[in-house]
Amino acid sequence: MFSALQLSSKGKVAVQVQLQNLRTEMLRNPEGIDAVHPRLSWEILGNQRGTMQTHYHVLVASTPQKLAADEGDLWNSGKVQSNQATYVTYAGAPLKSRREAYWKVKTWTNHGGESAWSEPNYWSMGLLSYGDWEGRWIGMDKASPWDEEDRFARLSARYYRKEFEAPKQIKKAKVYIIGLGLYELFINGQRIGDQVLAPAPTDYTANVKYNTYDVTKQLKSGKNAIGTVLGNGRFYTMRQYKPYKNKTFGYPKMLLNLVIEYTDGTSEKIRTEESWKMTADGPIRTNNEYDGEEYDARKEMPGWNAVGFDDSKWRQAEYVQEPDGEIEAQMNEPMKVMETLKPVSVKLLKPGTYILDMGQNMVGWLKMKVQGKQGDQVTLKFAEVLNEKGELALENIRDAKVTDVYTLKGGGEEVWEPSFVFHGFRYVEVTGYPGKPIVNNFEGRVVYDAMKTVGSFKTSNPIINQVHENSYWSIRGNYKGMPLDCPQRNERQPWLGDRPVQAYGESFVFDNEKLYAKWLDDIQNAQKADGSIPDVAPAFWRYYSDNMTWAGTYLMIADMLHQQYGNVRVIEKHYPFMRKWLQYMESQYMTDGYIMAKDSYGDWCAPPATIEEGRGMNANVKHPSYLISTAYHYHYLQMMQRFARLTGNEGDIKGYQALAEKVRKGFNHEFFIAKDASYGENKLTDNLLALYFRLVPKEQEAALFKTIANIIEVRNKGHLSTGVVGTQWIMRSLTEFGRPDLAYKLATNTTYPSWGYMVENGATTIWELWNGNTAAPTMNSYNHVMMLGDLVSWYYEDLAGIKSDRGQTGFKQIEMKPLMVNGLDFVDASYHSVHGLIKSNWKKEKKRFSWKITVPGNTKAVVYIPARSQNDITESGKAVSSASGVRFLKMEGGRAVFEIGSGDYAFVVK
Ligand code: BGC
Repeated sequence: MFSALQLSSKGKVAVQVQLQNLRTEMLRNPEGIDAVHPRLSWEILGNQRGTMQTHYHVLVASTPQKLAADEGDLWNSGKVQSNQATYVTYAGAPLKSRREAYWKVKTWTNHGGESAWSEPNYWSMGLLSYGDWEGRWIGMDKASPWDEEDRFARLSARYYRKEFEAPKQIKKAKVYIIGLGLYELFINGQRIGDQVLAPAPTDYTANVKYNTYDVTKQLKSGKNAIGTVLGNGRFYTMRQYKPYKNKTFGYPKMLLNLVIEYTDGTSEKIRTEESWKMTADGPIRTNNEYDGEEYDARKEMPGWNAVGFDDSKWRQAEYVQEPDGEIEAQMNEPMKVMETLKPVSVKLLKPGTYILDMGQNMVGWLKMKVQGKQGDQVTLKFAEVLNEKGELALENIRDAKVTDVYTLKGGGEEVWEPSFVFHGFRYVEVTGYPGKPIVNNFEGRVVYDAMKTVGSFKTSNPIINQVHENSYWSIRGNYKGMPLDCPQRNERQPWLGDRPVQAYGESFVFDNEKLYAKWLDDIQNAQKADGSIPDVAPAFWRYYSDNMTWAGTYLMIADMLHQQYGNVRVIEKHYPFMRKWLQYMESQYMTDGYIMAKDSYGDWCAPPATIEEGRGMNANVKHPSYLISTAYHYHYLQMMQRFARLTGNEGDIKGYQALAEKVRKGFNHEFFIAKDASYGENKLTDNLLALYFRLVPKEQEAALFKTIANIIEVRNKGHLSTGVVGTQWIMRSLTEFGRPDLAYKLATNTTYPSWGYMVENGATTIWELWNGNTAAPTMNSYNHVMMLGDLVSWYYEDLAGIKSDRGQTGFKQIEMKPLMVNGLDFVDASYHSVHGLIKSNWKKEKKRFSWKITVPGNTKAVVYIPARSQNDITESGKAVSSASGVRFLKMEGGRAVFEIGSGDYAFVVK
């Protein structure tokens, strides 16, 4: 993706180029986007401090040759005076279907001189209009005799094939495929691409995603064969009952276009139509995300996806209804196998039954090597925890069967992994394995959206480090083309309420922009005509319970994309729908006293007072709270003012302001208890919302904060008592209002309830419940991100001191103000922002404080160095006053504040 570092002959600026695109950036696969005004971004590496771009010049060409000759036949921006290096909108010739675009950029900087051209980058357009798709949807709109369509749906995978002749010399060939629910694609026996579980799931009545592959290498002149396998995914739902709740879309189906261009300038299209052959009687006997995959190797059809296979026993493909959804390119990263784990042990539980321990609660599947007789059957069952007897504890998986079955064909070593399922597990029960299984027979395949890891974080505190590591595993485990609540039980739904602030923290660890931009579309697609937004989107489960906290995630995610990435287009796109949702909630549920009298979940999963009290308790208890819904209403009204300003809807601002003021008054009137400076039932969450959202009258702020600190220190004996809602605001509130020591205490606690308590009790991921080890299993996942609240963003922003300025979003201006709390001696962290890599590595020693900082090109940072005066500070061994590129701004709260530009710095305070 990144070009090599280049030094120009004239200037000294090194330019790094990155193609970036609103909903469309394909970091690992630039093929087939459908944004007709894609946006280009690049990073600037300067080898001189304080490098800022002053101009750029972009060339976009239709061929690599033209680009090499500096001919921007699609777009030649000319030399543009601008410091913008992210989201520069393509403004060239209209981008037609299947067009290829090669581009490069050069920049000028404040240090004078001009960079060399960057390395070239590339993207191609997909099929932009409905009419570009030729051929017809094919499938088979019924089950096979061996399938079962009851509660636990069993539907075998469908195999499709087509042979064709490519008579001339091939110049280029691309496949455009919509394979629903999931597909695998082969040409001449070769698997195309390394994506798995593609395409990304959507509400197929609203939109369906296609993927594009360049298959020039796999195709040859003469005879060719194309093959696909279709799995169920979310299209043919896992639970074929409760039609009022579970949304299902029918039987798997597909539309495929293969466009072949010949060297003589002609082209042709191979497309799905009735001449394709199909069978459902292949090796994948059933595939169900909850229940598992069953593969019978005796049913394999060697050569089925290559030329010359005898398909006379296969049926003709049927024409089927096309899905209602609009056809769109998949712009978010596809899922891939991102890491492979070897089990730490395989132990005999009882004769014939082994328990495999991956050493880590992970999400994906198990790949297995096995040798045995034809018909031997290995059964793999997956769980997150074991019971006291060392058996799988499956109660918390509820009615998901989580079982993969492999039947051997016999006659040598067989290697297998499933195609259309995933599991959330640490332990696997292996039965029926011929011989004695050893760890080398198995591999854990870690599967999630192929996004870059952008953060690293280490501190002197082992609990914090382990919680960060557990977060890393939970976050990536639950990215499945949509953010899931959990990966293991019969749920795996994109619940909105688990992510509003959590997604913000996640963005420090993973480049999650494209996934969350896609999710905003999913949410908008799920919006009802009246404005209502569901609790789960895509609404595979139809829950339109109307509340502020879950549905409002729509606004929170858009805000995150703006704050962290500087992405304004998502706000422009969704603003009208957000406004509509708020108007709907107000018209339906707001009282004359401006109370939002509707909530569903309250502070969901707040911890029982003691671990004993929560023993055996079912967490599925809702405590709706109008305090919460009204507080959030106020918060969103503030946010909408910002959004209105950003999107040219200034006319709306006054209305939001006026209503916000009324809501604030109504809220205080209803919930403020002046005599003890508290709100509502004086719960920690109630008070936190009033404080952090600035609902509390200014003159009562200090008193309210005292109440909060008091609840934590005295009532809770140094612990939090917040559920999903309160935990989103707790760390930053304590920090901003002057008790970072208390935030640090919560972050490092190992007693109940705390993140450290999970670690102490063997967690390798984040639990759904603070009392996950003693609560009733019915509602108790060991891999949920919701309880992270604002912890991860606090790690990066407040412990490391890597924070984007609120005025200039997307880390164009960085605020570096790490917390100095007793007990924390060093933090070594990095974050790869849209502008480039930021590093913060500070260390407290007896009489010395040192801080190494990296600031990316074309950005500035304001750094807050703990010191009595600037005279105590050196930078790279010199008095700071004579250090280049370091400008003293002021002393503030025991810190010397400097502005620095790009570059590497080493500050020392003695
Ligand atoms: C999910 C949660 C979700 C909640 C809302 C649970 O079953 O796992 O994460 O937000 O339901 O009721």
